[in-house]
Parts: sequence; C-alpha cells; structure tokens
Amino acid sequence: MQVPALTLVTLLALLPPAQPCLSEMNKVKDLLEVNCTGQALRAVPPDLPLDTGILLLSDNCLESLSTIAFLPLSQLEDIDLANNGLVALHTGALLLSLKELTLSHNALVALPILEGLPALTHLAVAHNNLETLAPGAFRTVSQLQNLDLRGNKMQQLPREAFAGLRALRELDLSDNLLKELPKELLQDLQKLETLWLSGNQLQTLPADFFPKGRLFMYVFLTENPWHCNCDLYYLQTWIQKNADIVYQPERGLEETKVEVAPEKVLCHSPVEHRQKPIIHFRLNCSILEDADEEGGDEYNYGEETTEIATMTTFPLHPFIPKDWEGPLRIKSNSWPCTDTTIPPCA
Ligand SMILES: *[C@@H]1O[C@H](CO)[C@@H](O)[C@H](O)[C@H]1NC(C)=O
Ligand SMILES: *[C@@H]1O[C@H](CO)[C@@H](O)[C@H](O)[C@H]1NC(C)=O
Repeated sequence: MQVPALTLVTLLALLPPAQPCLSEMNKVKDLLEVNCTGQALRAVPPDLPLDTGILLLSDNCLESLSTIAFLPLSQLEDIDLANNGLVALHTGALLLSLKELTLSHNALVALPILEGLPALTHLAVAHNNLETLAPGAFRTVSQLQNLDLRGNKMQQLPREAFAGLRALRELDLSDNLLKELPKELLQDLQKLETLWLSGNQLQTLPADFFPKGRLFMYVFLTENPWHCNCDLYYLQTWIQKNADIVYQPERGLEETKVEVAPEKVLCHSPVEHRQKPIIHFRLNCSILEDADEEGGDEYNYGEETTEIATMTTFPLHPFIPKDWEGPLRIKSNSWPCTDTTIPPCA
C-alpha cells in the first residue's frame, strides 16, 4: 500500500508550519516583541500572540498585504515590513495603537492613503519607488513626528504634500530626484526640526521656503546642483543666517555622522563658479533694491566666514534631540543596505 504513505506526506505539507517567530519581552519598550524576520513568509502568520506589541516581519516575501491581518493584535505599536518586495499595501482596518510603521526597502510606486492608523508617529517608506505624493497624503496620520522618504524617485511634490502635519519633527527627502520645491511645502510643519534635502536635483529654493520663526536644528542641503545666480540670493542669505544648523551628513550602515558645514553647500553651475561654497560666493546682483535688509546693490559676504568644525557622532540616528521622549527604536535597515539580503521568495 503506497497510497497511505503519500497521503501522510500530503497531510504534513498541508499542516500549518510550527510558529516560526520567537517572542521575547522588549524591556526598553515594555512590549512583547515577536521576531518573524527572514522566514520566507508569504502571509502574516495567523497565530501570533494576541499581546504582540512589536512585530518584526522584515526580509520576508509579503508582496501584498492588508492591515486587516493585524486587527487581532490590539496592543500592536510597531510593525517592521522592510525588505519584502512589497508592491501593494491595503489600509483601512482600525489599528488604534500602531505608532511606528516601517515600509522601507520595498517596491511601492505610490503611497496608499493611510486609513485606520490615527496614532501613527513614525513612518518610514525609504528606498521604495515612490514617484510623487498626493496632496494631503498624510492628512489621515496627523500625529506623525518622523517621516522618512529617503531614496525614492520623487521629482516634484505638490504644495500640499505635507498638509496637516503639525507635529512633524523630522522629514527626510534626501536622495530623491527633486528638481524644485513649492514655496508652501513646509507651511504646516510648525514643529519641524530636521529637514533632509541632500542628494537631490535642486538648483534653487524659492524665497521664504523656510518659514520665518521656526526653530530648525538640522538642515541638510549638500549634493544638489545649486545654480549660483541671483535666484540663489534667498538661499545664500538663509545659510548665512543659519550657518550653525547647516549640516553635512556622512551616512554609514551603523551610524550617521553629521558635521556643521555650511561651506560644504556648493555651487554646481554656472561652470565658472562650480565647487564654490554658496556661503562665500559673491552674488553680483543689480536688482536687489527691494531686498529686505542691507539695501546695497552688491552683496559680498566676505571670505572669512568662520569655519565651524563640530563633529558629532550619533548612535544610528543623527537627529534625535537629547531630550527626546517619544517612542524610539531605530532599525539598522532604515539605512542603506550594502548587502541587502534577497529573501528566498522564489
Ligand atoms: C530576529 O531574528 C533574526 C533571525 O533569526 C535575527 O537575525 C535578528 O537579530 C532578530 N532581531 C531581533 C531584534 O531580535
Ligand atoms: C557685475 O555685473 C556687471 C553687469 O553684469 C558686470 O559689468 C561686472 O563686471 C560684474 N562684476 C563682477 C565683480 O563680476
């Protein structure tokens, strides 16, 4: 009788696999952390502990996902879905406790409207294929404090892209293809402290781009093809006045160093001014009579700008204020993976 043996094999194959995810208490956050990393999962395991607080699902094969899968987990605060080949995310299920959602290193071309996540404070969609954002894309997640959109393919943004994000402290738009930015972009971001614009295609910034009276702490402007003509007057003046918060990043896998370096923001064109620091560049503009201060017709910021050489090393994350109180767990996969492991999804 060979048939029973065959049936047994078939039965074994049909049995749900043993729970592949290890659980342990995360003592820092006082939450149950369930680690399903790198299990070649094609679906969220149905039998997760109901008191799961942190769910690590990175490096799996979750190409399409609905947040309904997390509905039974009423204490879930943090989901990591990095590196899954994710192309579609369906939201809508009400996840009242979810604060942190990591979608980095996936294949999203558009960001879905984030329905049902009213408590979300941290959203990372770095290193996907986002081409733009819808106006009001984040209106449904108005508690957001940290938004990471680094390493996508955005060329432009609507002026209402970040409308309603009054609690946002950090916005990372670095390493995109941004050519220009609307002057209203930061209007609603009253708490913004850290802005990454480095590594884009920006030639200038519109006048009043940085709203007056805001207390920025870190602004990153390097690695853009800044065009040093009179249109750059606003940016030059802004850098001049805010030289102590203009930083240069040195991103690493484990840590990011940042350095106060206003003189590292360089002209790219015209060719005769290439590689000159914007802060030293002598703008020869005749039509500056209605500029709001100084009032001369030539602006020369001198050559002896103080070289500020404060090197700061941050563990993993450069821009968390020292008095940061919010939930914080920085994942190494928010940073560029040089050795990205391809999940065995075949
Ligand atoms: C989760 O599990 C993976 C693979 O078993 C391991 O490499 C990783 O360190 C674990 N992560 C945490 C945060 O414990
Ligand atoms: C400034 O511009 C004027 C008119 O374009 C030009 O004649 C003059 O030589 C320029 N000065 C410098 C220092 O480049």
